Amino acid sequence: MDRDQLIDLTRRALKLARDKTTDLAPAEHNVDAREYTSLERHERERAMLMASPQLVGYVSELPEPSSYCTKTVMGRSILLTRTSSGMVKAFNNVCLHRQSQVASGCGTAKRFSCPYHAWTYDNTGRLVAVPGREGFPRVAVKSDVLTELPATEFAGFLWIALDPGATLDVAAHLGSLADELDSWGIGRWAPLGEKVLDSPINWKLAVDTFSENYHFATVHRETFATIARSNCTVFDAYGAHHRLIFPLNSILELENVPDDQWDPFQNMVVIYALFPNIVLSVTIANGELFRIYPGSEPGRSVTVHQNSTPLDLSDESVAAGARAVFDYAHATVRDEDYRLAAQLQANLESGAREQLLFGRNEPGLQHRHRSWADALAVQSAADTPASSQSR
Ligand code: FES
Ligand SMILES: [Fe+2]
Repeated sequence: MDRDQLIDLTRRALKLARDKTTDLAPAEHNVDAREYTSLERHERERAMLMASPQLVGYVSELPEPSSYCTKTVMGRSILLTRTSSGMVKAFNNVCLHRQSQVASGCGTAKRFSCPYHAWTYDNTGRLVAVPGREGFPRVAVKSDVLTELPATEFAGFLWIALDPGATLDVAAHLGSLADELDSWGIGRWAPLGEKVLDSPINWKLAVDTFSENYHFATVHRETFATIARSNCTVFDAYGAHHRLIFPLNSILELENVPDDQWDPFQNMVVIYALFPNIVLSVTIANGELFRIYPGSEPGRSVTVHQNSTPLDLSDESVAAGARAVFDYAHATVRDEDYRLAAQLQANLESGAREQLLFGRNEPGLQHRHRSWADALAVQSAADTPASSQSR
């Protein structure tokens, strides 16, 4: 993001902080509790995610030719490689023999030997060796391949489509946000690993926790709220995506400083929600990524939490510090947001109350739910035969 844009956002945030207010939606908004509990809705949302481009990691996770990494996306194991020509490829991490995972973890390898019976694949997915060859007369070594998925690197991130036949158009998906996301560089920062939360909450409830800071003063009283303002957010929608600016308490110190002396990024956290299931949180020192997936039932979800840092991790004390920051951020989400959300999910499932209320001060929350509802409406219109639509 260029300095003029940062200054402009800082001005907007400073005004909100000074006036003790926040960006407001035009009206309150109600959502049906069954959106978090209905099996039918859950299945439609799973289909929506399966059909959407999926951001699965940072480009820095595949730093050089022969790098590889594995990801779990919507319960599917995916192998990503960077080939000798530098291209990113993705495959279902499912052996052609009896479906073992071919690779695990991440690292550097030109070949992957399946841990079960040692069928071996190169990093373009091609089967190159089968021990006990006479047992498999129908298998074509050197031409059979792992199921390849559309994959690309874009705006600093790794993207895949889960449907092998899909067209992956991330530029169209991100629209005007693409350059801004790229400009932070967080996808090129050093990755700090993945932490997984398998949680008793609907996946949208997980996304909801990142969609407003109205809860900071209560839920994060001892943690985030000690540095960041509560109920004070700059909100901007970008198609189905949105961006929130959470000002830090220090922003008020800019009040009497000329803006050409501002160091604007010191005073805010920038949160992006990328449709449908991705949250990014950007600060000067952390590029957090939350990949949030529906689980096996409406009341379960899986969050994969990643972080990247611009710091030089070859210095062990710096690396230890960066890991400690990641541990702290993760523990806060787990023990504060998701713990509270689990109680909320139980209430939703109890059927005690039919609706939830989103305030004018929760425009991000409203935008998320409208974006999902719009996409599901388009999806069901497409699924309904034209003859029954006209009736
Ligand atoms: S399952 Fe992979 S070699 Fe048998
Ligand atoms: Fe929170």
